[in-house]
Amino acid sequence: METQKLTFTRTTCNEIVLGTDIFKEVAARVLRLRAARHCAVLTNETVAKWYLQPLLAELRTRGIKATEIVLPDGEKHKSLDSLSAILDQLCADGLDRNCPLIALGGGVICDLGGFAASVFKRGLPLVLMPTSLLAMVDASIGGKNAINLPGGKNLAGTFYQPVLTAIDVSVLRTLPLSQLAYGLVEAIKHGAISDSAYFRFIHKSVDSIKAKHMSLLQRLIRRSIHIKKSFVAEDELDQGIRAHLNLGHTFGHALEAAGNYIRLHHGEAVGLGMLMALKAARTIGKLEEDYTEHLRHILTEFGLPTKIPVELDKKELLNTLSQDKKKLHDGYRFILPQSLGKTFVHKVAQDKIEDFFLNACDI
Ligand SMILES: NC(=O)c1ccc[n+]([C@@H]2O[C@H](COP(=O)([O-])OP(=O)(O)OC[C@H]3O[C@@H](n4cnc5c(N)ncnc54)[C@H](O)[C@@H]3O)[C@@H](O)[C@H]2O)c1
Ligand SMILES: [Zn+2]
Repeated sequence: METQKLTFTRTTCNEIVLGTDIFKEVAARVLRLRAARHCAVLTNETVAKWYLQPLLAELRTRGIKATEIVLPDGEKHKSLDSLSAILDQLCADGLDRNCPLIALGGGVICDLGGFAASVFKRGLPLVLMPTSLLAMVDASIGGKNAINLPGGKNLAGTFYQPVLTAIDVSVLRTLPLSQLAYGLVEAIKHGAISDSAYFRFIHKSVDSIKAKHMSLLQRLIRRSIHIKKSFVAEDELDQGIRAHLNLGHTFGHALEAAGNYIRLHHGEAVGLGMLMALKAARTIGKLEEDYTEHLRHILTEFGLPTKIPVELDKKELLNTLSQDKKKLHDGYRFILPQSLGKTFVHKVAQDKIEDFFLNACDI
């Protein structure tokens, strides 16, 4: 028998531009991408109403033809049917491997666009233009994408880095405040896992964030990207350090699932999940700095829940936890806070999970 090794040296680089008046810049950069004269713009009906025409106008000015793909709004459209419709339209309009796909929208559109770009003709250049705060600080950074399957959320997807992430902060002016709050929860998490000064900055800037002071929001997005970038650059394929980005998420996913993804939004569930993680760390004596009240204050200011809804049955929560894809063969792995800006991995054996979890529910 003989063996041979084939080693590849493909390196990926995702350039991120952040500011205002970004649409012009995107058109200029798209033109430079493999001399593209044809691209596709994927968006949804809500975002299209505000931002599709301005983007198309910039592309047209540069002589770039655009295939428009406008989907209905909503998480339920992050589906195989939508993916199939996108691929059909790319095919019908004759896009080739040099034609960029621009995803203009929130996390749903970024995820769908990322997946479609990664598989159509084995890969189109992907440009992400996140328009929700959550997509700006989270979904558009790191190269993960996914669609939901009938069997569960985010079950099919790829790792595929965009060539460009272009963030125009000024689009946040049309984002509903509730959506801004959901994105902010991930930003708070960034502070909690690696930057205490950033957490404190958010805590003292609540009013300016609510008032959508653009320069402050830009500062916040810059800081969050920096933190997410540092975790994902070290662990592109999510095998190690990237797990810390899951602070509040294992608890949060159980809450979301137990409420059938209707009772609680992801952002609300992760906010509660972070409070539960603080409680759990305190109970096992590992919490050196307790910032529960600061977190509770920010969540309350943004109208996010700080107590688990009474109608969510604790046993049902435990059931959903046991289906979490992060579950290990010998128990569960949680990311818990140690101090502001520092987290650690905590394993809980199967026979201890009920006590551990029910105690954490008491926030
Ligand atoms: N790939 C990743 O790493 C990653 C990370 C986190 C979340 N996600 C995914 O992201 C999705 C959630 O993203 P989301 O919270 O942005 O949801 P979303 O895409 O549904 O957007 C939220 C709502 O805001 C609207 N909207 C977006 N931008 C707007 C704007 N500028 N003005 C007015 N309305 C606007 C949307 O139309 C939608 O109604 C989930 O599917 C989640 O799984 C992916
Ligand atoms: Zn999240």
